[in-house]
Amino acid sequence: MKTAADPVVRFSHVSKVFKLEDGDFQAIQDVSLDIADGEFVAIVGASGCGKSTLLRLLIGLDRAFSGNISIDGRPVEGVGSGRGIVFQEHRLFPWLNVSENIGLALGNTVLDPEAKRKRIESMVELVGLEKFSRAYPHQLSGGMAQRVAIARGLVTSPRLLLLDEPFSALDALTRQQIQDELLNIRQRYRVTTVLVTHDVEEAIYLADRVVVLQPRPGRIKDIVDIDLPRPRQRSGYDFYRLKEALLHRLTKEGEYELAERNLLKEIPLRFIAQ
Ligand SMILES: Nc1ncnc2c1ncn2[C@@H]1O[C@H](COP(=O)(O)OP(=O)(O)O)[C@@H](O)[C@H]1O
Ligand SMILES: [Mg+2]
Repeated sequence: MKTAADPVVRFSHVSKVFKLEDGDFQAIQDVSLDIADGEFVAIVGASGCGKSTLLRLLIGLDRAFSGNISIDGRPVEGVGSGRGIVFQEHRLFPWLNVSENIGLALGNTVLDPEAKRKRIESMVELVGLEKFSRAYPHQLSGGMAQRVAIARGLVTSPRLLLLDEPFSALDALTRQQIQDELLNIRQRYRVTTVLVTHDVEEAIYLADRVVVLQPRPGRIKDIVDIDLPRPRQRSGYDFYRLKEALLHRLTKEGEYELAERNLLKEIPLRFIAQ
């Protein structure tokens, strides 16, 4: 029988090899991870370390892997409406307005038109775009377009919200604002969330748990509980220490080039699982 303690997502010894002309390339190696109901997990790592590949496996876009991935105890078999997905580019259709773009995701559901309209309206309201429901994508700012993408991701009431570098293309201020909005949305709509990002600060600011991936082959280096109280203060000492420690973990192999690099000092790593 299923209990509340059962994980929503279970990766069990997942590996992924790409067959290339000049041989095999191991993109993911032996990843095991449980994600609990309602949890917010961030997967962080340098570019090319396998974050998107891992997410694609969870989405069901790629079924050529070894190991097991299950959602609510059932193996992932192809793409389904149980997962809302948000990418770096909003992927909105330019000829559809905000409501229509959100509604498109409801395409193959059995809702009657009135229920559908209400559902779309509640999503528009959830992301605070009531005044823009008839606007077209070109009339929206980058942050607003990503809010529409989140609304579209949630309109089917998915079991999981999956985000792949959703805010990376936004300017720093907008990014901070939309991070707060994502947290607000999660307060009202408590969906299990997996965020992929290369931004350590974003991961610590948002997530309950941060999974640090290391590259070639992509594998789990650390899993860190973020115990900082919410709302979190980016300027707080504990926040800063955690950020520096995680950056240090990511840069240690010389894989991660960041401006912050020269700020790194000897940072106690006691609180990180080795
Ligand atoms: N379809 C593919 N064929 C071959 N190699 C791929 C393919 N997709 C991704 N890779 C390789 O797998 C590694 C991980 O890619 P990816 O998951 O996109 O990384 P990330 O999202 O962390 O930047 C990279 O080295 C990338 O070049
Ligand atoms: Mg990626």
